Amino acid sequence: MPRIFSGVQPSGTLHVGNYLGALRQWVATQGDGDALYCIVDLHALTLEIAPDDLRTRTIETAVGLLGAGLDPDLCTVFVQSHVPEHTELTWLLECTATYGELRRMTQFKEKGAGQESVRAGLLTYPVLMAADILVYDAERVPVGDDQRQHLELARTLATRFNGRYGETFVVPEAEIPTVGARVMDLQQPTRKMSKSTATPLGTISMTDPPEEIARKVRKAVTDVDGAVAYDPESKPGVSNLLEMLAAATGGTPEALAGRYSSYGQLKQDLAEALVELLRPVHRRVAELESDPGTVAAILDKGAAKAHELATPVLSRARSAIGLTPRSR
Ligand code: AMP
Ligand code: TRP
Repeated sequence: MPRIFSGVQPSGTLHVGNYLGALRQWVATQGDGDALYCIVDLHALTLEIAPDDLRTRTIETAVGLLGAGLDPDLCTVFVQSHVPEHTELTWLLECTATYGELRRMTQFKEKGAGQESVRAGLLTYPVLMAADILVYDAERVPVGDDQRQHLELARTLATRFNGRYGETFVVPEAEIPTVGARVMDLQQPTRKMSKSTATPLGTISMTDPPEEIARKVRKAVTDVDGAVAYDPESKPGVSNLLEMLAAATGGTPEALAGRYSSYGQLKQDLAEALVELLRPVHRRVAELESDPGTVAAILDKGAAKAHELATPVLSRARSAIGLTPRSR
């Protein structure tokens, strides 16, 4: 059984980019192996977030993952901070990574840009992410395209640690979908749809009601020339709509472009496709929202399973690096 691991930050409401780029794959492959899906609350602390918001969004994100179709009988859903092995392994990996490597990460440069003071955790963010993965001997990591560079670093750290201290970690592989891996903001189609930084009208939340989805798609930025063509460089707005439609209904964005002569029809079809795609998600989210006890119990059971898997891997790493054995 291949071990699969992925994570999502509870930094805001899950959106269609998360769904098409990540969650849908997680749901589709949850039975293929021994899969763990983690709500990475510690990662959310790398940018400003109010304690009450963190609390609420962690549960909201859990509801979103389960609502998207993750089944606790088939996979493990848990909260990162409930399994302290992640942070303990992080230190060993921080002493494996270099300052230069971390400083060069695109996400660090983007999120840190223009901030008066940058949290040290924003710099070491990808090391915690590497620990999330390596502490479970995960072989496959399904993520959106924006996480490619972080995954490469996790592989580098695993390989370096193994080379220095002997075979300890499994070197993980990223799994990035071919369509939908990079859903862009509907108002600023050169920026990715994002929980924290995008425009409200540009982000479709996974739980937006149908009329809201239709309104946002209708108002999406296109171009002046009116032609429907797939060309992400020169026509980012329309290309993003075609890409989302392809991800939602199948087919390729290039082939779909040939079927449309106006933006209006394309937008109408996309809105309908998204509403259909999200209908079962809305239903399950509403059920779970009315049953917080069940959600808490699922997360509890998930953390216990995760802890059990992480303990021997951490102990292997501690021993390889030369820490003295401990009895507790
Ligand atoms: P995050 O929202 O950054 O916690 O990301 C959770 C998962 O969703 C990761 O696998 C990301 O790669 C993926 N993801 C986030 N934003 C997008 C987007 N705009 N398009 C496609 N995938 C995304
Ligand atoms: N950094 C990821 C994101 O923002 C979330 C994440 C944290 C993650 N740890 C992970 C994803 C481990 C995959 C594996 O999308």
